[in-house]
Amino acid sequence: APPAHAAGWPEPAAVNAPEPRQAVAAPLWLLAELTYRCPLHCAFCYNPVDYARDRAELSTGQWFDVMRQARQLGAAQLGFSGGEPLVRDDLEELVGEGRRLGFYTNLITSGVGLTETRLARMKELGLDHIQLSFQDSTREMNDFLSSTRTFDLKARVARLIKQYDYPMVLNVVLHRFNLDHVDRIIDMALEMGVDYLELANTQYYGWGLVNREQLMPTREQLQRAEAVVNDYRARIGNKVRILFVVPDYFEERPKACMNGWGSVFLGIAPDGTALPCHAARSLPGIAFPNVREHSVKDIWYASGAFNRYRGDAWMKSPCRACPEKDKDFGGCRCQAYALTGDAANADPVCSRSPQHADVHAIVMQAQAAQEAARRQQVQPIVFRTDANSRRGG
Ligand code: FES
Repeated sequence: APPAHAAGWPEPAAVNAPEPRQAVAAPLWLLAELTYRCPLHCAFCYNPVDYARDRAELSTGQWFDVMRQARQLGAAQLGFSGGEPLVRDDLEELVGEGRRLGFYTNLITSGVGLTETRLARMKELGLDHIQLSFQDSTREMNDFLSSTRTFDLKARVARLIKQYDYPMVLNVVLHRFNLDHVDRIIDMALEMGVDYLELANTQYYGWGLVNREQLMPTREQLQRAEAVVNDYRARIGNKVRILFVVPDYFEERPKACMNGWGSVFLGIAPDGTALPCHAARSLPGIAFPNVREHSVKDIWYASGAFNRYRGDAWMKSPCRACPEKDKDFGGCRCQAYALTGDAANADPVCSRSPQHADVHAIVMQAQAAQEAARRQQVQPIVFRTDANSRRGG
């Protein structure tokens, strides 16, 4: 029998579930966003801008239960993120349980709070993988962008991670303020003995969207940085694997966001809200189910929220008739909503979207904004703080 739907949930049929229903595969990825609490205040954080409104967090036992259910469905990868997951005292317990259940476990961290004692314990419990973020290669810019003095601490944590024999995976978010330092960032990665360097240009969700005007690089800046990366790649070979993710706004085709809505990714927010992507809460009119009230199985297979953009019956023109729709699924729903006001529109990053010119215009404004910044006439950056969150960014 179909699972019961709680009040306020649209029945799948009412939200254009694909007809005929295509088989839905199990989730592959469980992302446990343990908390929105974070000692850093990054201006490009993808957490919801109003994160401070809800402080309720799932308990250790509730997380155990979510992990067990997701694993039973077939999820294999487990990420612990936040906020900063290390602010949870039970992180070690959660890691241990994740491993016991047979997940491949990833810790996604700023490094703040990662003492040797905690790292040694997580190693003992079997934590598989750690991804450490840096904001820049210089102390000044790192500390400015995160609005904290964390550069030296992160450098210590990077050494610890190596010492405990983890592959060193470094993530640096790029934008106008640090794209011109890409060479120094790669040099820093080389000195640290990094194995993978993820140079991820800012995506404009959450706080990144609030600060888009300040963070958006110019096309020239981006091209210069990409040339530097390619030059390093040619010189250093596989010594450090460098991933350079170009910001969508500069592309002609959208990314296959989340590999398709409700396809592989199951995110659980700190309060237990289940999300098909990190930014889904920004979409109005969708009642996202909560693991406190529904089983993970019902959420994944039967909730209106997870069925909403599965398949292609929800698509409008030009996506519906597009030969690439099975490749990019119409792009990102959250970006379509942020830029066009309708999450069912084509992601306007696509040159086939009627709103593509608007994205182009935003990129062009970046040049003007940079000049204004030089004349100090630009809006100040809005850092991710509780006070700013309560004000709605
Ligand atoms: Fe939500 Fe892309 S971030 S669908």
